Amino acid sequence: MFDALTRQPDDPLLALIGLFRADERAGKVDLGVGVYRDETGATPIFRAVKEAERRLVETQPTKAYVGPEGDPVFLDRLWALTTGEAGKGRATAALQTPGGSGALRLAADLMARMGTKGIWLGLPSWPNHASIFKAAGLEVITYPFFDIPSQAVLFDRMMEALAGAAAGDAVLLHASCHNPTGANLSAEQWRAVSDLIAEKGLLPLVDIAYQGYGRGLDEDAAGLRTLLATVPEALVSVSCSKSFGLYRERTGAIYAACSNSETALSVRTNLAALARTSYSMPPDHGAAIVSTILGDPALTADWKAEIETMRLRITTIRERLAAGLSARWQVLTAIREQEGMFSLLPLEEADVLKLRAEHAIYMPTSGRINIAGLKTAEVDAVITKFLSL
Ligand code: LMR
Repeated sequence: MFDALTRQPDDPLLALIGLFRADERAGKVDLGVGVYRDETGATPIFRAVKEAERRLVETQPTKAYVGPEGDPVFLDRLWALTTGEAGKGRATAALQTPGGSGALRLAADLMARMGTKGIWLGLPSWPNHASIFKAAGLEVITYPFFDIPSQAVLFDRMMEALAGAAAGDAVLLHASCHNPTGANLSAEQWRAVSDLIAEKGLLPLVDIAYQGYGRGLDEDAAGLRTLLATVPEALVSVSCSKSFGLYRERTGAIYAACSNSETALSVRTNLAALARTSYSMPPDHGAAIVSTILGDPALTADWKAEIETMRLRITTIRERLAAGLSARWQVLTAIREQEGMFSLLPLEEADVLKLRAEHAIYMPTSGRINIAGLKTAEVDAVITKFLSL
């Protein structure tokens, strides 16, 4: 019976983890999967996370199920962190999910249930976006978002394309720290796209997975907040993987901002029913950590200070890379203005494979680099190897 199945290729991004691990060369450099690393090459556990875990070990009264919706206190605290004033008092349906991917899949399943036909996706995007939407049965309609050779956001073309969307279509937007380009919309562009979405009756799905790694915690959510203040309905997928360093704990949430509380209740029951037939109930350890941190002003302050240090480290590496790489690719001065973990270099697949084979530099064949994976001490050597291509 199993022979009805054909073997599937590994996920190309996740396969890099194994390839890198198996490489025995000294000085190998991992610019692959989006994981923050410090100057020693370690992915640290935030001090506040460790402290929250210690408290949970001592005080958590039970491991009984949390229910399909998850913990409402976690959901409220994370919503406040993400949306600030824009989310206050808004009728919202919320569910704790297994990571940001779980949130995106629930959003896609909900849209399929609502009869949403197409979801508009700017290219390039995180490869799993299209896969998740297609797996839920949605039609993915693409539009140009970013031009790699000029490192420019194609805003006019994006607006032209979205002007052709049908009422009821969905549109995926990255809140900030765009994956894979690091290029983001300006405040003015967020206003314009929010107005267009409201005018055309589109449903925005905003993916926020890197809050705190770009320009700052509030700054990285500013576009999303503008959108929420403009549109009657929106979906927001939140990942705590990077912002709280909880990758393997699979911590996230899906929120639906609704125009009234009756609709919010209906959306919540649908999300809960979808979760029940998928993974039933969400993992809770990561959510309990986030809730503990956000419920304690001292822990929150410490977490904010630590993520700010990480953000500044990335900014410094961006400056060094921009200065070094622009000697060969003038346009790569843009790396300085881009933000978050990623930039997308104008490389051919052959260049990427050569860097891997000859210099043990690992990155996906798209040319995306995880800047947060670089140590300061490696930057000059990595630049030299890129310039030697
Ligand atoms: C990435 O893009 O590298 C991360 O979001 C990890 C993942 O799940 O792909």
